[in-house]
Amino acid sequence: MQPVFSLSKRSIDQLETDIIHTDKRELCLRILRYNPQDPDSTPRFQDYQLEQAHGMTLFIALNEIRELQDPGLHFDFVCRAGICGSCGMLINGKPGLACRTLTEDLPALITLAPLPVFELIADLSVNTGKWMRAMSERLETWIHSEEVTLRLGDLEQRMEPALARELYELDRCIECGCCIAACGTAHMHAGFVGAMGLNKISRFQLDPRDDRSDEDLYQLVGDETGVFGCKTLLGCEDSCPKNLSLATQIAWLRRRMVSVALR
Ligand code: SF4
Ligand code: SF4
Ligand code: FES
Repeated sequence: MQPVFSLSKRSIDQLETDIIHTDKRELCLRILRYNPQDPDSTPRFQDYQLEQAHGMTLFIALNEIRELQDPGLHFDFVCRAGICGSCGMLINGKPGLACRTLTEDLPALITLAPLPVFELIADLSVNTGKWMRAMSERLETWIHSEEVTLRLGDLEQRMEPALARELYELDRCIECGCCIAACGTAHMHAGFVGAMGLNKISRFQLDPRDDRSDEDLYQLVGDETGVFGCKTLLGCEDSCPKNLSLATQIAWLRRRMVSVALR
């Protein structure tokens, strides 16, 4: 007689995986603690034990630690949804967003450290805003247009949907800093604008409202702090939580800047 209900091998495997993932287990979060504002503070790792709950993210785990074990623990968050870019940190040595990382996808011992390159505020909190502002001022990441008269009654300028989609794709960057933290060049050269800066230049180059020529952009990124400083090892793209095609943008921009240099 045929069984009324049967599970395929794949379903059984999936079920076993789910059971493992929903199992409660003890986690140890090993967190690098240091407050450069406090003269008595020295860098050290501190361990926190807690029980994993189903669907727990690192953000939830850190909040639980701060609420129940250590109110002095510093880390940043705003949106909890992978949108604001505030919660970037090194998760077992790799840059990532705490609010988008499930603890069940990690081993029971999880090491957390602040993103390198950026100024440390304390513990897991870094000042990405200071770095972003300097990069933005250096690359002038705003529309440059001869059209200076603002007429509020005018209709919005039309744009082809395909071009708008391309611009939107480049604008998906949330400025989390993960690509910068993963970049060997950014570690060695403080002025390097990184994949994020180069991505922004691609975005303005594509925008028909920006009057800057390739020659103008060459003045901004045609050197070792820009597109020619990149070593193309692609730690940036591997670490981007928004899966931006950073390698493609860098290659495209480099081709354009080389053609300017050869003119
Ligand atoms: S590909 Fe370039 S920008 Fe990306 S991590 Fe490597 S050096 Fe940095
Ligand atoms: S390019 Fe990706 S990794 Fe870099 S800041 Fe933007 S979202 Fe973050
Ligand atoms: S809290 Fe906003 S991206 Fe994580």
